[in-house]
Amino acid sequence: MNLNNKKVLLGLTGGIAIYKIASLIRHLINDHNCDVRVIMTKSAQEFMTPLIFETFTGNKVLTDMFEKDRIVSTRHIDLVSQSDIFLVAPATANIIGKVANGIADDLLSTMLMTSKPENTFFALAMNKNMYHNSFFTKNKESLINNGYNIIEPEKGKLATNIEGEGIGRLASESVIISNLLSMSDKPLKDKNILITGGPTREYLDSVRFISNPSTGKMGIALANSAKKHGGNVKLILGPTSILPPKNIDTTSVISSENMRKAVLEKFDWADIVIMSAAVEDLKPTTKESIKIKKSNIPKTLNFTTTKDILLELGKIKKNQILVGFSVETENKIHNSIEKLKKKNLDYIIVNDPNEKGAAFGGDTNKTTIITKDEKILEKKLMTKNELADEIFKMLI
Ligand SMILES: Cc1cc2nc3c(=O)[nH]c(=O)nc-3n(C[C@H](O)[C@H](O)[C@H](O)COP(=O)(O)O)c2cc1C
Repeated sequence: MNLNNKKVLLGLTGGIAIYKIASLIRHLINDHNCDVRVIMTKSAQEFMTPLIFETFTGNKVLTDMFEKDRIVSTRHIDLVSQSDIFLVAPATANIIGKVANGIADDLLSTMLMTSKPENTFFALAMNKNMYHNSFFTKNKESLINNGYNIIEPEKGKLATNIEGEGIGRLASESVIISNLLSMSDKPLKDKNILITGGPTREYLDSVRFISNPSTGKMGIALANSAKKHGGNVKLILGPTSILPPKNIDTTSVISSENMRKAVLEKFDWADIVIMSAAVEDLKPTTKESIKIKKSNIPKTLNFTTTKDILLELGKIKKNQILVGFSVETENKIHNSIEKLKKKNLDYIIVNDPNEKGAAFGGDTNKTTIITKDEKILEKKLMTKNELADEIFKMLI
């Protein structure tokens, strides 16, 4: 695990957290032997001068696309392909918006346009209202879905008393560096990872179905995290309005039976299987191929249970690490340990949708992870992306 001699391009944008970056640079150079080149936006230079970063890095800070004494016009762009890591810290809402929308109107955004998403990191820092802005959220998700690495900000006291507490503080140096390490390390390299996500639909006729509010966000977060850590990833996704990540091999399915078949087909290929899909366990006993007319709707419906995919996988598992998610609203630990044993799982991740921040469809989750030897790990409320990273940290 090291960043030794890595060439790091460090983009600085106009956020107040820029003052913390001098210390980050010292760590990258002194502790990790990195060669750091800094690029500053015009706004970043309103907060600090290039001289500080030139002094720390020993390299000229790049600020302008059109330098007066320039001889070779593509020099800056060449620097991107010659670097191992492109980190933007602090990353403003503005730079996220630009990259997500293909805008290249200054040196940093132009250089980012030529960088490989998997080598590019954005350490977010902003006011909590900017962080919750729906355009920003959409832009951030677009970057994640295109394979870029997002280092989420932390909760805590924000820059001014008026802003108060909230999410938006730049992640700590150790979190930023461990994100860079996980990329250079690629601990899931050569591992095949199969992930399920989203709900399933069990049809009563050609238009009506039983389902649940799962959106697939957890499955997508897991797939992105596995990819980021170097894994070969296949995602099997139930019906959802969220677009699956472009860089991940995704099979879309509708019913629990479709999901079962797709999972069984890929099970032998997988080293790690994480079943985060909310597979419907009820289905109508009969299904009409046309829409039942309102006048013919039966007064009562008969249901049967769908096949338990995890139970089946637990029986046929060879060397795979098998991880299940469980939704429990009462006796959650006891019931989940029962499931873990019965289904021969290696880990079970328990959500209680009644807990604050753990509801279906949200961006956060509050879970308890139970291991095969019944260790109970209470996790704090965190984003689904953070939880996905925590899960892989545990599995690697
Ligand atoms: C004092 C001050 C602090 C700011 N802090 C942030 C911040 O932390 N995050 C952010 O996204 N924008 C922040 N902004 C707004 C950005 O500087 C502004 O959106 C600018 O256009 C960003 O340009 P850049 O992304 O090219 O650097 C701040 C502005 C001021 C005046």
